Amino acid sequence: FRREGKKAMAFKSIDQLDISGKRVFLRVDFNVPMDKSGNITDDTRIRAVLPTLSYALSKNAKIILASHLGRPKGKPEPEFSLAPAARRLGELLKKEVKLAPDCVGPEVEKMVAAMKPGDVLLLENLRFHREEEKNDPGFAQALAKLAEVYVNDAFAVSHRAHASVEGVTKFFKDKAAGYLLRDELHYLGKVMEDPARPLVALIGGAKVSGKLEVLQNLALRVDKLIIGGGMAFTFLKSMGIEVGKSLVEEDLLKTAKEILEGANKKG
Ligand code: 3PG
Repeated sequence: FRREGKKAMAFKSIDQLDISGKRVFLRVDFNVPMDKSGNITDDTRIRAVLPTLSYALSKNAKIILASHLGRPKGKPEPEFSLAPAARRLGELLKKEVKLAPDCVGPEVEKMVAAMKPGDVLLLENLRFHREEEKNDPGFAQALAKLAEVYVNDAFAVSHRAHASVEGVTKFFKDKAAGYLLRDELHYLGKVMEDPARPLVALIGGAKVSGKLEVLQNLALRVDKLIIGGGMAFTFLKSMGIEVGKSLVEEDLLKTAKEILEGANKKG
C-alpha cells in the first residue's frame, strides 16, 4: 500500500463528504465463507461495515452496496449469489435489504431510481461480469451511473485493480474511504512508519503468489516474520525440508528462498 520512500497516501473518509440524501455507491467485501447449503459460516466481513452503514443511514443516504463473492467465471452462477449476504445484513440492520438481480443495466437502474432516503440495496455479484476483473472502463461507467458518491469500504479487495475498486473511481468527483478502510489504512500506516518494537508480523494464506510484495516489504521492516497457512510449505520446501503432498508453489521456491535469505541477512 505504500512504496518505499513515498509519503503515505492521503485520502478522505466518508464523513468528509456530503452524502445527505444522496445515492452512495458503497463497495464492500461480502466475500464471506458459506457452507454447502449457502449458510454464512462467518459474517465478520458483513459486520465490519456496520459503522459505515450506520453513518450513511444517519445521513439518510440511499445506499447501493456492491461486492464480489467467490470466483465465478464472469457469468451468473447461482452458488455465488449474494442473496445470503443480503439476508444476513437485513438481520443485522433490522431493516429490509433488497437484492438487485444484477449489478448493472436497466432493471437495476429502475430499482435505484425507486430508492428512498435510508434504503439499502445490494447489487448482485460483480464478478458475474468478466468486465469487473478486467477493470473495463465501460463497465465501471455503468456502475458509476448508479450513484452520485463513491465510498470504498472493501479493504480486503483493495489490492485488486478491478472495475468496482479502481476503474469506477474515475467517474466520481466525490469519493472517500469508509470507516473500515480508513481504520485499516491508519493502522497499517502506523505499523509501517512508527511501529512499537519488537514488531512481529504473522501472515497466513494458501499461496505465496499474490502476497510477494507484502512479504518482501514486511521482511525488511519487522523484527520477526511468522509465516503460517498453506504457503508455509513453499518456504519449508525451499529450505530443503520434505513436505509430502502439501500445497507447494514450485515456481515460487526460488523467490521463497530469496525472501528467507534477505531476512537472514537482516538478522
Ligand atoms: C479475499 O477474500 O481475499 C478478497 O475478497 C479478495 O478475493 P479474491 O482473492 O478472489 O480477489
